[in-house]
Amino acid sequence: MERLQKVIAHSGVASRRKAEEMILAGKVKVNGVVVKELGTKVTSKDRVEVEEVQIQREEPVYFLLYKPRGVISAVDDDKGRKVVTDFFPHIHARIYPVGRLDYDTSGLLLLTNDGEFANLLMHPKNEVEKVYVAKVKGLIMRESIRKLEKGIKLEDGMTAPAKVKVLSADKKKDSTIVQITIHEGRNRQVRRMFDAVGHPVVKLKREMYAFLTLQGLRTGDARELSPHEVKQLRALASAKPNKK
Ligand code: URA
Repeated sequence: MERLQKVIAHSGVASRRKAEEMILAGKVKVNGVVVKELGTKVTSKDRVEVEEVQIQREEPVYFLLYKPRGVISAVDDDKGRKVVTDFFPHIHARIYPVGRLDYDTSGLLLLTNDGEFANLLMHPKNEVEKVYVAKVKGLIMRESIRKLEKGIKLEDGMTAPAKVKVLSADKKKDSTIVQITIHEGRNRQVRRMFDAVGHPVVKLKREMYAFLTLQGLRTGDARELSPHEVKQLRALASAKPNKK
């Protein structure tokens, strides 16, 4: 049994909010009868119509992809470049990425057709931690690490404090491998943070998303999340103390 507005949202007809408005406006029928109560629950056997058109029910699905570099975090590309959904040729559900990784960034990316779940995870106030490993130019000094940890002023505002750990430094190659943990998801955030301290990123990989890792996967591999992992992610994103 699922709430009517959720079922409508999952079918891709409208956002959950819009679905609620449609229900209240009397535009939704269940088994031929107009239903105006938002709490109404339906099963997969119930016939749901929105504005006289029966919706196509789609079961929610959740995947973890080890995105290779050179792939766009989108469902299609007008220039014909490879996109993340190309790694799911047998999945007919309309999945899309939860947030994005840059074309040149590799690593852990979630995909789903569950809009509510995606929004929950992406909302900055829910503070889902992401761990990146960056190879940066130059030998990074304590002062720069302190700045990254405290928060960096970017053109779209201060970044929240980050956790930073130097994994190794190569004097000969003049580069440093740094692990950085952030919970925001601004566009090219890690690259811009390192640019701001004078250490441009040469290579970037997302190694963790909340408690999820790339363990057992090779680049280009994907796996379905277990129901327990989905539940854990939901609980984690919903449980932040500062939630307004
Ligand atoms: N930060 C970036 O700069 N790039 C990514 O792909 C993800 C985070």
